[in-house]
Order: sequence, then C-alpha cells, then structure tokens
Amino acid sequence: MLILGIESSCDETAAAVVEDGRRVLSNAIASQVEEHRKYGGVVPEIASRRHAEAISGVVDRALSEAGVTLADIDGIAVTYAPGLIGALLVGVSFAKGLALSTGKPLIPVHHLRSHIAANYLAHPDLQPPFLCLVVSGGHSHIVRVEDYTRFEVIGRTRDDAAGECYDKAARAMGMPYPGGVALDKLAHEGDPTAYVLPRPRVEGSPYDFSFSGLKTAVINRLHNAEQKGETVNKADLCASFQHTVTELLVGNTVAAARDIGADTIVLAGGVSANSGLRAGMEAACADRGYRLYAPPLSLCGDNGAMVAAQGYYELLGGRTAGMELNAVASLPITE
Ligand code: KG4
Ligand code: ZN
Repeated sequence: MLILGIESSCDETAAAVVEDGRRVLSNAIASQVEEHRKYGGVVPEIASRRHAEAISGVVDRALSEAGVTLADIDGIAVTYAPGLIGALLVGVSFAKGLALSTGKPLIPVHHLRSHIAANYLAHPDLQPPFLCLVVSGGHSHIVRVEDYTRFEVIGRTRDDAAGECYDKAARAMGMPYPGGVALDKLAHEGDPTAYVLPRPRVEGSPYDFSFSGLKTAVINRLHNAEQKGETVNKADLCASFQHTVTELLVGNTVAAARDIGADTIVLAGGVSANSGLRAGMEAACADRGYRLYAPPLSLCGDNGAMVAAQGYYELLGGRTAGMELNAVASLPITE
C-alpha cells in the first residue's frame, strides 16, 4: 500500500511516499529555517505563506522521485494537529483538495504520532508496545505506545518543551535559531561539571518535566557574568546544560520504564538528534537491559515520510476523514 504523507505544521514543507508504513520511496522537503533565522524564531505568518508557495512543488517532487503518480497512491495522509494553525491549514487544505479530486482516502495524522512512526521506517523489527520519549520544539512527552494507534501519556512537560529550552538557552548564548544543534556541537568542547544547574522535579508527578527554571538559570548566569564584567566559558555552559537536560530526560524515562515494566525504549522528535541524549539513553538502557531505538538523524526533524508511515497505520485502523477535516493547533496524542 502506498501512502502520500504531507507535513506543514511548523517551518518545513514536506511530502513523501512510503510503502506499507515502512519503506521510504521518496522524502521531499523545502525548509524555511534560513528565513526565520533572521527573526530568531518561527514567524507564523511567514511560515503559512511559504508553505502555500512550496506545497504544490514539494508534493510533485515526492511523487516523481518515488516514480509514481497520484493514481498509484492508496491514501493521502496529512498532519492536522498540533502546530501553527495557519501552517497546518496549508497542508490540510492541499490534502483535502487531492483527496476530493482523486477519491482517495484522506487520513488525519497527529504530529507526535508521526514523530514516533519515524522509527518504523528505520527499524523493521520495531513493533508496539514500547515506551517512547517524544522530545521536539513544542513537546516533551513520555508516551506508552500500546499499539500503532493507541497511546497513553505517562509524563509531560509542565512548561517549556526540551527543544524550546535548548533554543532559548542557545539564543541567550548568541547562537542563531534553531540553536539546539549548535549548542549540542559546542557542548562537546566543554566540561559538563563546570556549572551546577537546577534539576527541577515536579512534586507528586515523577515522570513530568519542568524546563523553564533551567532556561532561566542559564540566562541568569550569563546576565550575572555580564554585570560583573566576567566572561562565561560558553562551551562549559553548553556542556553543563546538555548534561543536565540529558539527566532529566533519561532519568524520568528509565524510571517510567521500570515502573510500568517496559523492555523497549524509543526516542522521537527533533531533540532525539541530540548526541548527549542519544549517548546518555544508550548507556542507561545498556545498564538496565532495555532495547533502545532512535530514528536516524535524517528522520528526527519534521518530514513527510513519518506522516506517511503513521498514516498507513491510521488507515489500517480505519481512521479517515471527510471534507470537514480541520487543522487543530493543540490536541492530545490520545485523540
Ligand atoms: O520535531 P522538530 O523538528 O519540530 C517540532 O515538532 O517542534 O523539533 C525541532 C527542535 C528544535 O527546538 C531544535 O533546536 C531541536 O529540535 N533540535 C535539537 C537538536 N537538533 C534539533 N536540540 C538539541 N540537540 C540537537 N542536536
Ligand atoms: Zn516536529
């Protein structure tokens, strides 16, 4: 079965063709990151306009690179939630148009479900149930994946997402948007024990995260040093920050795995590209005997292939939509 996946929830316009939820035939993407960099973050209005300009060409490219036409496609999957509403609407409207004109099923896909499904593309043996740490620019969740379309949220952030915290800390250190990758890189040159940063815990919710205090601590360090005329060793601050975030993410995830009796841990979302997180989780899983899966770096960020992969399983589960489908800015993964 061939699924066309369309993604436009944030700053990448992407489309892909995937066979049976597992084999990527094409994965086309038009990134707007360079343009948003000027403003230090995603400007929603610009994002919507760029999606509208790019989407037709990106979908054409996905079909031609897969060597297929719309007639060969069995379903049109699209990210409909959560994300920037104007950005989502472009993908949803385009997918509805394709579905209406071809008579193919329209498949609504939740963005975080698709991040998880990126793993199915790289790991043929991976099947639910497993425990997944989903960490992106907008979300940080520990999710029990009971089946391809059944989820239970075990833990979540109470404030900033991990990626957001990375980007804000990086920005305070003068790195361009999105700063996560640059911070990760500089962290390798620093001493992770140089700065002691807070490790906030959420009282009574052992699997929840709170990252805003950590972000504030980094900003305060920088301001403090500036006021006193001292210099901050940025590599050391990056290394200490990465070490702290990794400890929080890994600590809560392995505690949840232990308590619910999971034997497989999966990483997903943009922040799953982080080298500290990957190494930290690998060490923790090796210690405790958990199997660990993570997407290849090329599939950690937003892409169309992950939407097509999850779309395949949603279609098998009977989840299709009609022309009433709308974009939704905020929606739990369980819905
Ligand atoms: O999943 P994603 O592409 O978009 C959302 O759904 O939000 O995630 C983007 C986030 C950004 O905050 C970006 O800085 C972060 O993922 N990110 C990283 C790394 N690569 C991407 N954060 C830390 N280390 C990285 N290597
Ligand atoms: Zn994403």
